[in-house]
Parts: sequence; C-alpha cells; structure tokens
Amino acid sequence: MPLQEMFDVAGKSVIVTGGAFGLGRAYAEIMAEMGAKVCVFDLNADQLAKTVSDIGENAWGQVVDVTDRAAMTAAFDAVAAKHGRIDVVFANAGVDAGPGFLTPEGTRNPEGQIDALDDDHWDKVIAINLSSVFFTMKLAAKHMKAQGQGGRIIATSSIAAFYNDGIVGTPYMPAKAGVSHLVKQLAMELGRYDILVNAICPGPFITNIAGGRLANPADRKAFTDWSCLGRVATTDEVKPLALYLASPASSYVTGSQMVIDGGLMLRPAFEADRH
Ligand SMILES: NC(=O)c1ccc[n+]([C@@H]2O[C@H](COP(=O)([O-])OP(=O)(O)OC[C@H]3O[C@@H](n4cnc5c(N)ncnc54)[C@H](O)[C@@H]3O)[C@@H](O)[C@H]2O)c1
Repeated sequence: MPLQEMFDVAGKSVIVTGGAFGLGRAYAEIMAEMGAKVCVFDLNADQLAKTVSDIGENAWGQVVDVTDRAAMTAAFDAVAAKHGRIDVVFANAGVDAGPGFLTPEGTRNPEGQIDALDDDHWDKVIAINLSSVFFTMKLAAKHMKAQGQGGRIIATSSIAAFYNDGIVGTPYMPAKAGVSHLVKQLAMELGRYDILVNAICPGPFITNIAGGRLANPADRKAFTDWSCLGRVATTDEVKPLALYLASPASSYVTGSQMVIDGGLMLRPAFEADRH
C-alpha cells in the first residue's frame, strides 16, 4: 500500500470527546488537517467555539457533558445524521483527580490521603474518567456495528493504568486502569466486526489539565526529572500516534496500549543507573 493510502483518513467521520483543549484538540487538529470531518464534543462552550473556529471548515462542535447519557446519545445521532456515518471515535474527555498523598517534593499531603478523600469527588472522577468512556464506546460500537464497515475506537488512558504515583490523585489510578482493561475487553468482542479498539497511554503532556498543572515549576520538575528525555511533551507530539491508530496503517492493531511517555515508566531502572 502506498504511504499516502496508509495514512489516509480523508472523508472519515470522526468524534473527539473533550476536544476543546489539550490532547483531544490535537486529535481533532490532525484528523481535520488530513481531511476528515470532525465533530468535537466538550462542555466548555467558549473554548469549543474557539477551537473549532481555529481548526476551520472540517470541524464543528457540540456542547456535551460526557456524563450526560441522553445528551451523548443525541450528539452521536446528530453526527451520524450530518456525516452519514461514524468511523472513528476518540473517547478522550477526562479530568485530573486533585492532589495525591504525596507532594511533588515528596512529603505527605494530608489532603490527598485516603481517609480524607471525599466520596463525591471519588464518584465524580470515576463518572467522567471511566463510566463516560464506557458509554462513549458503547455508542461508538452501536453505530459502527449497524453501519457494518468496521471502525476505530481510541481511548485516552494514561501510564497511570500501569504505574502508581503518589503525586496524582488516587481516584485517577483505578479509573485509568479500568479504561485500559475495558479497551482490551472490547477489542476481543468487537474484532469480528473489524472495529479496532486501542488505548493511547500518555505520560506528561502540557495541556490544560489540573489548571495546567505542568506549568507549576515543582510539578514540572518532578515529571521532567523522571522522563528519560528530561522534558515533558507538547500536544503536537501525540498527533502521529492518533493518526496511526485512526488510519489503515494500523489495520492489524487492536487491544493495544500505546505508551507515549518519554520513557517515564522506566524511572526506577533509570534512577538506579544514575546512582
Ligand atoms: N496531559 C497529560 O499529561 C495526560 C496524561 C495522561 C492522560 N491524560 C488524559 O488525556 C485526556 C485529555 O486530557 P488533557 O490533558 O488534554 O486535559 P485538558 O484539560 O487540556 O482537556 C480536557 C478537555 O476535556 C473537557 N472535559 C472535561 N470534562 C468533560 C465532560 N464531563 N464532558 C465533556 N468534556 C469534558 C475539558 O473541557 C477539556 O476541554 C484525559 O482523559 C486525561 O486523563 C492526560
């Protein structure tokens, strides 16, 4: 297959949840740049309008809260009606989970400890970061199966699915582990319909998450110190991976956990090497 065809997503119908900012915006940008028709879902109406206007004619937006199942169902139907079908769905929307039980400097943080963890906060993070991913994938599968021509479902998980970290809020960890496990489960189920299901598992990217946490020097230092590359990533760096997973190039890839973390998960071995 010629290189151009391998990465051809022109005319594909794409949904990106949580695409007004950050990684989701990067997915939407690369898909639109490559000629796909992209609908961005986000609850931040102002930023959504700005993002789709910046992206240009291949993008439009719907103000949707991913935890609102009736609104999500209607938003998927609206995309199917406008584009005629749904080919690629990025289940991306997510939030940070507040402080962890450790500060970036390595001291105990009373606010983030399990006995101080607010029950409603736990429920909220699980609802956005895990249950809404389930529902997004359910709607994607429903549309793609009915169309009968396969499809791509791509979830934004995290290295938090594999690697525990005390400076990240505790509910984030099981939510992302759940997303990664769900991806594998649905890859098994949906393979026979040629619906490929994969996870992107980022390390530290500079986005708006946690109010732009990585702009805080202490947080940023923790993550740059742990990266083998000595830096955090920009959202442009996730675009080739998003395109790969959405395009014919990845036709035999399903159930995968695509780690893009500057080697951060190698930290223990890396530190041992430095001592
Ligand atoms: N930035 C990182 O370092 C990093 C690392 C690993 C995983 N992730 C994951 O990447 C995904 C995107 O995060 P990001 O870093 O780009 O954050 P971000 O805050 O820059 O963007 C997230 C977007 O999701 C939207 N959103 C939040 N809650 C929503 C809801 N209920 N309904 C609809 N939209 C909602 C926000 O308005 C925002 O536009 C998340 O799932 C996050 O957990 C991020």
